[in-house]
Amino acid sequence: MVVDLTDPDLYARGDPHAVWRDLRRHDPVHWHRQRHGPGFWAITRYSDIARISADPATFISAGGTSTMDLDAETKSPDDKVLGRTLVTTDPPRHNRLRALVNKAFTPRAVSRLEPYVRSAVTQILDDAFAREEIDFFADVAARLPFDIICELLGVPRDDRLALFRAISPFLEHTDDGGPRATALDLPSYFLQLVGRRADAPADDLISDLVGAELDGERLSTADTIALCVLLFVAGSETTMNAITGGMLAFVENPPQREPAVANLPRAVEEILRYVSPVMVSIIRTATRDVEVRGQLIRAGQKVTLWYPSANRDEEVFADGDRFDVARTPNEHITFGFGEHFCLGASLARLEIRVLFDEVFRRAGDVQLAGDVRRLRSNIFFAIDRMPVRVRR
Ligand code: HEM
Repeated sequence: MVVDLTDPDLYARGDPHAVWRDLRRHDPVHWHRQRHGPGFWAITRYSDIARISADPATFISAGGTSTMDLDAETKSPDDKVLGRTLVTTDPPRHNRLRALVNKAFTPRAVSRLEPYVRSAVTQILDDAFAREEIDFFADVAARLPFDIICELLGVPRDDRLALFRAISPFLEHTDDGGPRATALDLPSYFLQLVGRRADAPADDLISDLVGAELDGERLSTADTIALCVLLFVAGSETTMNAITGGMLAFVENPPQREPAVANLPRAVEEILRYVSPVMVSIIRTATRDVEVRGQLIRAGQKVTLWYPSANRDEEVFADGDRFDVARTPNEHITFGFGEHFCLGASLARLEIRVLFDEVFRRAGDVQLAGDVRRLRSNIFFAIDRMPVRVRR
């Protein structure tokens, strides 16, 4: 079977779910050739992805975890910053690094953020719904996760607008399918904020990190900045995609609204499964020769895990292409599995739940007012324009 899973047009204009369905059925551990690289394995079945993610000794993250790490020519501009932080670190350092940030993300710590999340959502929807026609991506979805991460890290409110503009290339998405000039300004911003918090600590995550120790030493400034940038990158694009994709799913399936209002936490799980707003695939590198479903994966080879495919695997989900907010059980793997399970899962769930709660309260009806544009990228699986008309 000849497929090119690295072609950004597949995600902008094609039907990647049809390609993944075919791979699951005919070649679930597929050797994928590359024009500019050594090739890689594409894993599309739920059980294989779960097994690989649960074995961080055989399948490490240090070789890079996103599609751009497959090809030396498309290295991420963030690579220098993100090169050795949480996502790309393996046990035992990984466990110690994760413990430093974990306490800000426990379900209890996150539930304390709910009043702030609700006030941020209220502000965003008051602004957006004052107009009849809006871009639901730019005017609603893109704004919320950014603001929440700023609040958590302790970015002063007066700095947020300038920072939002500084990273807007990241939000606006370039159209060449490659990595964007994303977080380049974030490291320099965080460098000065870390300095300010070292002089005058406040009640925020950056101040906690500045005083934290790792392996008996103070967490270095480079490690602190890398963690801050990671939280921005990991927490914004994913959550905004979930919100935009979830809204589109409701627009396309109006009868799903009523059961969603009746049980919003359950509907959030279906949004997460159906949209799978993660990077198109997560990468691991094999440390030894190992067999998966009868195929020999050699030490040093890259293995790509296609989460959106696993979330529609017919062995686990009946009628997986259907958006069904009453689906139970719903054991999706949108937040990953095992060692690197998403640190921000509770926070993402909270943001999505509160956002849809307030949208359903305020908007009688939301309809498309133009073409939905899918992002031309082989890194994120996302929508980056969604004109809608809102009737209150
Ligand atoms: C719907 C929204 C989100 C989705 C789908 C998502 C998905 C994921 C996935 C699949 C991973 C595992 C990566 C791997 O195995 O290599 C991950 C890791 C991570 N996520 Fe999320 N994420 C979301 C929201 C957030 C938020 C809001 C934050 C924080 C503000 C966050 C912070 C992180 C961090 C720090 C990691 C690295 C954890 C580690 O390596 O130990 N994520 N996320």
